[in-house]
Amino acid sequence: MASYNSLYEALGGADVIRDVVTRFYPKVQAHPLLAPLFPDDIDPVMEKQYLFLTQFLGGPSLYSDEYGHPMMRARHLPFPITPERAAAWLACMAEALSEASIPEELRKITIERLSGPANHFVNTESQDQ
Ligand code: HEM
Repeated sequence: MASYNSLYEALGGADVIRDVVTRFYPKVQAHPLLAPLFPDDIDPVMEKQYLFLTQFLGGPSLYSDEYGHPMMRARHLPFPITPERAAAWLACMAEALSEASIPEELRKITIERLSGPANHFVNTESQDQ
């Protein structure tokens, strides 16, 4: 079994992260709970997510180099993030990873890694949505 220094490397580096992000946002934009939170022009969000995920998964610190300390929970505070929205975000990501042909074990580890922040960003109780 090959050994990697980071999940970023194990997943396949820049091209794979780019591919995953490109597959992820159309799912977000098509999701009834998530779509209303996002702007129509998704390209800038996609680019920031590429920079952030790269560093979050152990690659180069692209996001911080450009935007400073991520403060991701604070950046999400303007948006009502319910537990259902966190679950929906993770489900879209799981689908994107699967479509990008990431092996199951790596998909599982990646989703586990992202579940921490996703649940941490919840700032609003469940609502009848
Ligand atoms: C828990 C469910 C989540 C929801 C509903 C959500 C929603 C959003 C929204 C609405 C934006 C702002 C889009 C805009 O610029 O108008 C955003 C930005 C962003 N989100 Fe999330 N997000 C979630 C989880 C996550 C997670 C788990 C990560 C990464 C670990 C993440 C990373 C980012 C990044 C990097 C940005 C851009 C921040 C910036 O403006 O610099 N999000 N998110």
